[in-house]
Amino acid sequence: MLARIAFWLVPPPMTDPDDDKRMAAGAAVREVRDGMLVGLGTGSTAAHAIHAIAAAGLRIETVATSAASAALARSLGIVVRDFADVVRVDLTIDGADEVDDTCRAIKGAGGAMVREKIVAAASDRMIVIADGSKRVAVIGAAAIPVEVLPFGAAFVSQELTALFASVVPRDGGHYRTDNGGMVFDCRQAVTREWPALAATIASIPGVLGHGLFLTEIDAAYIAAGGTVTRLER
Ligand code: 5RP
Repeated sequence: MLARIAFWLVPPPMTDPDDDKRMAAGAAVREVRDGMLVGLGTGSTAAHAIHAIAAAGLRIETVATSAASAALARSLGIVVRDFADVVRVDLTIDGADEVDDTCRAIKGAGGAMVREKIVAAASDRMIVIADGSKRVAVIGAAAIPVEVLPFGAAFVSQELTALFASVVPRDGGHYRTDNGGMVFDCRQAVTREWPALAATIASIPGVLGHGLFLTEIDAAYIAAGGTVTRLER
């Protein structure tokens, strides 16, 4: 009875998901060292990391995975280099839409997954940051975004329909990425053999990339209820 009264008087701590995003971002930014070239991810959680980098006064250079992240970083006084001139990045910090305990993730709700994957591939180390709502036992509930050259929209859409029960052009087909690509949000894959599915999607002519990140991520900081959990691949 006493325990029940205590429950009503002192409710369990509630945390704002935005506080958790900020906390995960702060934990990841503690891995950044002066002199590094750092990849800046895209989205609300990555924006917290960009703010944390600026606040820490780190002497680094960065590359950005989207025009939005580049603009935010520059507005905070962070040096942003053109990735077209870069072959290797020390560390990239980015968000995710779903991540499992082996650091497999789905990314791209923000539409930046193609640049994010290129920068991840160039990175010695990639860290994902997220609030607890993004941590899943098995990836696959979130939409897997596929970026497509508009020229091939109808053909690619038809090919994707053989792989997913639901293939929806983002914003009715009007959405464009920083690369000028369309995005198809794909759900209910016919298989959960993710490596095979990823290879099949990537092999469709007209596909510029997709949001399955199966091998790129080295570690994740997930914050939930004010506690940060670190996952390693
Ligand atoms: C953008 C992404 C984002 O990192 C992902 O959608 C998570 O965004 P947010 O931190 O806003 O939830 O992959 O392409």
